[in-house]
Amino acid sequence: MKKILTVYLFFLFSFSLTYAVEGKKVFETYCWGCHHQTAVAFGPPFAEIASKRSAEEIQAMITDPASVSKVFGYKRNAMPPFKLNKEELEAITRYILSYKPQKEEKQ
Ligand code: HEC
Repeated sequence: MKKILTVYLFFLFSFSLTYAVEGKKVFETYCWGCHHQTAVAFGPPFAEIASKRSAEEIQAMITDPASVSKVFGYKRNAMPPFKLNKEELEAITRYILSYKPQKEEKQ
């Protein structure tokens, strides 16, 4: 019984580890060239995105930037679309939203 529990805890632990690392990995693989966490790069920083977009909006932008960037008010779309699987999409969304500023800035 104890052994089963240990194995269970081990899996739970390694699962939560990958869970935490995943979003950062997706970011470093696909987004890092154009987005930074808090500084403006070619695209807006994640902190700014997190302060004004929902998870659904972020995911729509990643999969179909050509249509969504118009809705967001950009004149030209410079972001390419990404084919991420569901886990990657959810991980990167969580990662972006984790940069949401603690205090809401008034605009
Ligand atoms: C080639 C450069 C480039 C890459 C790579 C890139 N982006 Fe972008 N992104 C942009 C630019 C430029 C914009 C501004 C809107 C536009 O041009 O369509 C943008 C806009 C966005 C927005 C909407 C910003 C807003 O106003 O809310 C989100 C969300 C976003 N990017 C997420 C991502 C994620 C997640 C990745 C990685 C999977 C990624 N981007 C990769 C260039 C890029």
